[in-house]
Order: sequence, then structure tokens, then C-alpha cells
Amino acid sequence: MKMRWLNFLLFLIHWRGTGAVTGQFWHISDLHLELEYNHTSKDPSQVCLSEGPQSVTNAGVWGNYLCDAPWELINSSIYAMKAILPKPDFILLTGDFTAQIIDEEWTEEAVLIIVKRLTDLLLLVFPDTTVYATLGNHDFYPKDQLPAKSNVIYSYIADLWRPWLDYKSISQFKKGAFYYQNLPGPNSNGQIVVLNTNLYYEKNGAENRLNDPGKQFQWLDTVLSEAFQDGKKVYIIGHMPPGFFEKTRNKAWFRPNFNKRYMEIIKKHYRVIEGQFFGHHHTDSFRMFYDDKDNPVSVMFLTPGVTPKKTTLPGVENGPNNPGIRVWEYDRATLRLKDMVTYYLNLTHANLHSPKWKKEYRLTEAFYVQDGSAASMHRVLEKIASESQFLQKYYKFNSVNYDLRPCHRHCREEHLCAIKEVDFAKYERCIKQLSSSCGLPGSLLLFCVMMGFHLIKSL
Ligand SMILES: *[C@@H]1O[C@H](CO)[C@@H](O)[C@H](O)[C@H]1NC(C)=O
Ligand SMILES: *[C@@H]1O[C@H](CO)[C@@H](O)[C@H](O)[C@H]1NC(C)=O
Ligand SMILES: *[C@@H]1O[C@H](CO)[C@@H](O)[C@H](O)[C@H]1NC(C)=O
Ligand SMILES: [Zn+2]
Repeated sequence: MKMRWLNFLLFLIHWRGTGAVTGQFWHISDLHLELEYNHTSKDPSQVCLSEGPQSVTNAGVWGNYLCDAPWELINSSIYAMKAILPKPDFILLTGDFTAQIIDEEWTEEAVLIIVKRLTDLLLLVFPDTTVYATLGNHDFYPKDQLPAKSNVIYSYIADLWRPWLDYKSISQFKKGAFYYQNLPGPNSNGQIVVLNTNLYYEKNGAENRLNDPGKQFQWLDTVLSEAFQDGKKVYIIGHMPPGFFEKTRNKAWFRPNFNKRYMEIIKKHYRVIEGQFFGHHHTDSFRMFYDDKDNPVSVMFLTPGVTPKKTTLPGVENGPNNPGIRVWEYDRATLRLKDMVTYYLNLTHANLHSPKWKKEYRLTEAFYVQDGSAASMHRVLEKIASESQFLQKYYKFNSVNYDLRPCHRHCREEHLCAIKEVDFAKYERCIKQLSSSCGLPGSLLLFCVMMGFHLIKSL
């Protein structure tokens, strides 16, 4: 009898240790390491090379808002992760390792050197943690031209990532830079699906004439169908998101047919998809996916970049961001997203004093929602749409506490429609509706906001 109780006790201790319900993982993106960054340069045009010489004054050790990330900043962010959460279940890393340097000053070798340096740093600081990583449009030479077939870059990087990939993923990655893998842990029910959405970029000359480059869509459809049959849940990760950039008007990345196909797959398989994690924008935002009855069924989280560099996209005002890193809390059994905390570095402060990574916000505290589910994020969208206090909060987080100005009418339209409508035609309609009916003052504005959403819903 005594023995049995002891066994039961031991069982409980063991269960508490290994079977804890809530796990945590990191999501970081867009590191953009620039090895040429030289803050001591006396010539302001020689401080950094990213996207052509610019005049950079007051360059600091930890970086500059006009430049990609120096080694010191990258190192600081990875060690900050170690200090904040040293034993995550895993790390998601959604691409753009290399600096945004023009092809004329760039080489294939430069891509490989940078991916190797960052891989080595992660292996050094997190030796026991699996990193699920995607390539970004900058992680190729020439940039944006990632092919749907094997090549030197995919092959070299797959070998670099051997510590994180199983045998099947390595050979899959070499063919097209996409793969899926089961989460660690003997009883894990979860899968990470890593996509190469750079194949869908309108600037990708090699791939964009095909219907299904690399047959990635067909593959994704099969992986998700099998996950459903096996009772598994998945997270999808990628670099370049479908839909629109929220800091300007009408700027999408995917070609229209690919955007459509991506949405169809999410709509078909949303039951197994517990989250989508992307980067590329360097900003903090999210994208909603709805079923045919306008129920929110899936959500894509865009995590801020580590690079602070101001975007050079035409039409974007106040483009820089502070470096950001993000922890997710999730249910290990179901992959349900419970909460998220974003941490940031005030780069101005770091250069004046010393680098201090601080909590920026916790999702459930900032927006008074229960979790990171599609239903909750739809509530967040409704709050942002109807209360200026929440719009302003969201807008501040969007640039990771860099742009503290008010988000006025055009800004509001662009952010709301980008979040709500990933579909090209619906986005256009959303912008039209919000901008035609909502040039009203004060309390009427609230009315038109509600009407706007009512109209959008009933389409
Ligand atoms: C950085 O700039 C300084 C001053 O112009 C120069 O002396 C130094 O060699 C440069 N460092 C590198 C690594 O290029
Ligand atoms: C990286 O950061 C750690 C922790 O702050 C520090 O101890 C180390 O010296 C840094 N290394 C480099 C090369 O900057
Ligand atoms: C960032 O640091 C600078 C310099 O210390 C300070 O003026 C600014 O208010 C800080 N920004 C935020 C959002 O805290
Ligand atoms: Zn990027």
C-alpha cells in the first residue's frame, strides 16, 4: 500500500516536470545583419551600405535607424532572449538574415557567410533548442530570386541547419527551402510547417509564371490533410506574408493567383492550423482569415524585425522601428495560443546609455482579450476599429514604440483594411468604403465605423 502511494507521488512529480500544460517559444524575424556597419566611420556615407549610401550622422554602437543591424545589436538581441527565457520549447525564425545591400555590391558567398554566423550564434547561445527557420527574400543571390529547385544556397544552408532538422527535412529543404517537422517531445501532437513564400513574390522572375512553384501548394494541402487525419495541430511559418503592407496603400507582395490560393488553403484547413507566424514587414501587426460566413477562423501574426532600418518603400512615412523580439505562451497539448509578450530595445536609449531590453506589452493585458485565438484577434480588430485609444496603442506597437504620432484617417484606413482583408478585391473594397463614407467628424465617425464593418461583413 505504501509503495503504491510513493509511486503515485513520483508519478505526480514527473508529470509536473514534463507534462506541464503551458509551454513557451520565441518568434524572431528579419535580423538583417550588416557586417559593413562602422559607427566610427568619419565619412557619413560610409557608415553602412544597406540600400545604397546614405548620410548617417550620430551612428551608435548598437545601430542606427537608417542602417541594418550591426553584430553588436544581433548579439544583444540573442543574449536578451537567453536572459528572458533561456529554455524555450523551440524558436521560430522567419527569415531575412542578410543586410539589404544591392546586388551590385553583393555575392552568393556573402549570403552564406551571414547565415552561417547567425546559425553559429544561435547554436552557441541555445545549444539544446530546435530552431525552425525560413529563408527571406534577402537570403539569396540575386535577391528575391529564390527558385523552386535545388541550388548551392539551399544545399549549404540545409547542411548548416542539420542540428535542427531531421533527415527528411534536410532533403526536402534542399529541393525548395520548405519542410515540415514534428515538435520535439515523445507525445507531441504538434507540427511546424515551414513555407518558402518567397516563391510567390511578384518580383521573383523565375517562379511567378508557374501555377504552383515547387508544387508547394499541393504539398501543403497534403501535409495539412494528413495532419487532420492524424489528429495533429500545426503552426505555419513563413517570411513574406500574403495580403497587404499596412504602412502604405495598395502594396501587396504575392502575385494575385498565389494570394488567392494561399487563402483557399487556409480556409480549407483552418481546423488544424493553430497559428501562422510571418515577418518581412519589420512591423508588429496581424492578419485575419474568415470563412464564407465571416466567422474568424485563423490569424497570422507578423512579428517585428530586429533590424531598425527605415523602410525605403515609396509612400511610407516614418519607416523605422525599434528592434523587437517575441515570446509566445501556448498549450503544449493543443497548440492553442494563450498569450504573447513582445520585448524591445529603445535604440536611441541604447546608444546614449546601454542596451536595455524591456517588456513592450502583453497581448491579453494591452487589448483585454482572452488569448491569441482568431476569435480574440477579431475582438482586437473591432476594438482598434471602434476606439481611438486602442487604435493608438496598436499603432505605437506597430513600429515597436518608434512612431508615437497619432494615426489619422488615412493611416487608420490602411491599417484596418490590411488587417481585415488579405484578399485583393476585398481590400480594395474596404479602402473604398472606409474612405468614402468616413470623412465625418466626431461621434458620426464611430457610427460610420460600425456601418463600415457591417457593410464589409454583409458583402
Ligand atoms: C571604420 O572607420 C574608421 C574611421 O574612418 C576606420 O579607421 C576603420 O578602419 C573602419 N573600420 C572598418 C572595420 O572598416
Ligand atoms: C555578446 O553579448 C554578451 C552578453 O551581453 C556579451 O557578454 C558578449 O561580450 C557579446 N559579444 C560580442 C562579440 O559583442
Ligand atoms: C527612447 O529613449 C530616448 C532617449 O533616452 C527617449 O527620449 C525616448 O522617450 C525613449 N522612447 C520611448 C518610447 O521610451
Ligand atoms: Zn526584412
